[in-house]
Amino acid sequence: MKDKKVTILLVDDDPELIWILTEALTKEGYRVLSAEDGKTAIQQVRNEAPDLVLMDINMPDINGIELLGRIKAISRRISAVMLSAYGEAKNVVKAMHAGADDFITKPFDIDELKITISKVLERKALACENESLKKKLKSRAEYENFIGDSNPILNIKKMIEQVADTELTILVRGESGTGKELVTRAIHSLSNRRDKPFIKVNCATLPETLLESELFGYERGAFTGAQRPKPGRFEFANEGTIFLDEIGEMPPSLQAKLLQVLEEKEFSRLGGKKSVKVDVRIIVATNRDLEEGIRNGSFREDLFYRLNEVTIFLPPLREHKEDIYLLVDYFLKKYSAMYGKEITSISPQIMNIFMNYDWPGNIRELENLIKKIIVLGSEEVVYTVIPHDVVEGKMVYKNTKIIPLKEVSRLAIQKAEKATIKSVLAKTNWNRIQAAKLLQVSYRSLLSKIKEYQIRE
Ligand SMILES: Nc1ncnc2c1ncn2[C@@H]1O[C@H](COP(=O)(O)OP(=O)(O)OP(=O)(O)O)[C@@H](O)[C@H]1O
Ligand SMILES: [Mg+2]
Repeated sequence: MKDKKVTILLVDDDPELIWILTEALTKEGYRVLSAEDGKTAIQQVRNEAPDLVLMDINMPDINGIELLGRIKAISRRISAVMLSAYGEAKNVVKAMHAGADDFITKPFDIDELKITISKVLERKALACENESLKKKLKSRAEYENFIGDSNPILNIKKMIEQVADTELTILVRGESGTGKELVTRAIHSLSNRRDKPFIKVNCATLPETLLESELFGYERGAFTGAQRPKPGRFEFANEGTIFLDEIGEMPPSLQAKLLQVLEEKEFSRLGGKKSVKVDVRIIVATNRDLEEGIRNGSFREDLFYRLNEVTIFLPPLREHKEDIYLLVDYFLKKYSAMYGKEITSISPQIMNIFMNYDWPGNIRELENLIKKIIVLGSEEVVYTVIPHDVVEGKMVYKNTKIIPLKEVSRLAIQKAEKATIKSVLAKTNWNRIQAAKLLQVSYRSLLSKIKEYQIRE
């Protein structure tokens, strides 16, 4: 591998040796730099980013092993070949531990040196290739279960790739069942934290004090029953990612503490004085209207801006219905395999219904429905789950659920009542007393109808 761009840095306090090696290696097509002491070597590493350092273990101003450690701290990608005098076996072992790739004993043969260098560089190229291959494979695996090729989904995939390997805090928004958790996991596994923990905490399921101790841990005696100290999820997530689901439900006092962690990257356990430092990437999700939360005082505005370095907005399924084909196909395969069935497609009538339905439960609802079809081995279940009016227009007669006449008139009355109440309320500017008078019903019965029909201002 004699790529002209490959740069080698020679570090040795013997100018004559440097001169000879520069000659020989330049002839081989390498770009050769040199340094006669440790300080210059470090500068060269910083400024020139060499691919390989060839250095003497014995330097006048700095121990070669220490120098190697410093160089590796600047960049782990730099390969290192050590030159050592005969009888320095101990140092060589130390150097290998410190990350040296190979070593050569002085005096050496130039050809032997050339071979060693090219071997080390080859190994390095292979390692780089492997790494990028692994990364690609991994990302493909992540996307294998993230289905969709509509524009909104492609944009989200692009965004995930752009933000995954950064430290940005991410706010994932979208209705229930749109894939917020799936996206969050994809971000983690495409980030350089992928081999570290991914910790999920649902802020909606725990009462305030429990949530606090769950997140931040506690010291012994912090409260009755705290018999031994317990680290919180933030500590478990160290070097990894913490996923705070349903952040909109987090009580304000905890929001303040979270803001502090975001800003200072440290906190203290409940009942503790010592501060705990953590390196955690934070991703939060919500299906709540956080702006409304800010207006009504249930969500801190400063936290909102701090969390919202990047927002990924997942569209409801009804806004990317073209993905339904791919999703149905994917879920059919997934659950057929899981339940040992062989259902590979659904009928055109059912697909028609799917395309006409609004999917309030989004992709989760579609997934559950396909699962039911597979488990029950019949599409009939669709008619019991999806509302009549969606099904009706799109179905052949034999499958139509017949609605009893009584039910028909009840539904018609409801519809008419709702429309009338709405229009009268609009006329009276939502003055309910006046509206009740106009409609000639009691105030109470008007209120109960407003509630029953879920009429909102
Ligand atoms: N694009 C997609 N491709 C394949 N499966 C998906 C996709 N989006 C969501 N799903 C599946 O739908 C289900 C719901 O997704 P997820 O749990 O990520 O939604 P959510 O937005 O977190 O919902 P909630 O707000 O209710 O917690 C999961 O089983 C998930 O695997
Ligand atoms: Mg979720």
